[in-house]
Amino acid sequence: MRDLPQAKEILAWYDRHARDMPWRVSPADRRAGKRPDPYAVWLSEVMLQQTTVAAVRGYFHRFTLRWPTVADLAAAEDTQVMAEWAGLGYYARARNLLKCARTVVEEYDGRFPDSAEALKDLPGIGPYTAAAIAAIAFDRPETVVDGNVERVMARLFDVVTPLPTAKPELTMLAEDLTPLERPGDYAQAVMDLGATICTPRNPACGICPWRTPCMARAAGTAPDLPRKLPKKARPVRVGYAYVGRRADGAWLLERRPDSGLLGGMLGWPGSEWAEVQPDRAPPLAADWQMLGEEARHTFTHFHLRLKVLIADLPVDATPDRGHFVDRHEFRPSDLPTAMRKVFDLARSAFAVESAGAGKDTGHG
Ligand code: ADE
Repeated sequence: MRDLPQAKEILAWYDRHARDMPWRVSPADRRAGKRPDPYAVWLSEVMLQQTTVAAVRGYFHRFTLRWPTVADLAAAEDTQVMAEWAGLGYYARARNLLKCARTVVEEYDGRFPDSAEALKDLPGIGPYTAAAIAAIAFDRPETVVDGNVERVMARLFDVVTPLPTAKPELTMLAEDLTPLERPGDYAQAVMDLGATICTPRNPACGICPWRTPCMARAAGTAPDLPRKLPKKARPVRVGYAYVGRRADGAWLLERRPDSGLLGGMLGWPGSEWAEVQPDRAPPLAADWQMLGEEARHTFTHFHLRLKVLIADLPVDATPDRGHFVDRHEFRPSDLPTAMRKVFDLARSAFAVESAGAGKDTGHG
């Protein structure tokens, strides 16, 4: 009979190989009594939902520099937080982040509750994030199951049922392995193992702390697991985006409604996005010129192709929608990526246009 995997094997590995992350307390510091900052753990876990560690680092750094505590964040202006989140995607996370910070300040005196049960009731904290915060920040024996953990469990126990059908089974296996001691380090150890050794392709089984008990390794199936049911193809949606530049260099922008895609984010006025060509819906009458190239962006459920139209607008322009943003106040980095792509195309076109006329585009 094969030995069952033990938490102690992976904890010993984590003691030597834990990845260095700005929100983490290293195993050595942990032993010396240092505790993680629940605010940092919460912020990082919300950012890490559907996003890689590499993409999150810079955002985490800027957020904590600007808003060092949950009270600072709770007091921030919504538009500032949305602008700082721009480019990270899944913008409902940023809206919920603010709601959550304000709830923690108003209802919990600025201290995060220390159980998964209570954390789950906060805005933007689902079962996964509640378990992660409870385990990592408060050393509660909660089981954290993300994609990495599912892959590790599928291989350890040679689970051939495809995802998502296999989820409950993989969760049960992960729960059975979760130790009562050092559950926070354990949760992070399994995630690190999945990210660095038990990788989707070419897993480094030879150096894995669980190589002996791993059933998929013995069966030679590790690289093929977990199996996944085929995903549905993404449909294509099309729309129009209008980049208007006023004679004084101000840009015509629009804050998107809180609900829906890119909710609460700054963007270019435009049409609906639909699978059949929608109405053009310009924000005002002007000499709109359509660019030859479309802006393309992929969301979770569809591919978007935006036709980009640009126009020079007079100083007394009165659009039906949106508001002008002074050229010195406009930062392209405040835009979500889809809108940033629109701007990059428009900016090149304006530059070509004004190179001939000798005008300043207002952008370095
Ligand atoms: N992915 C999500 N949360 C993580 C964490 N705390 N450590 C490593 N990877 C993660």
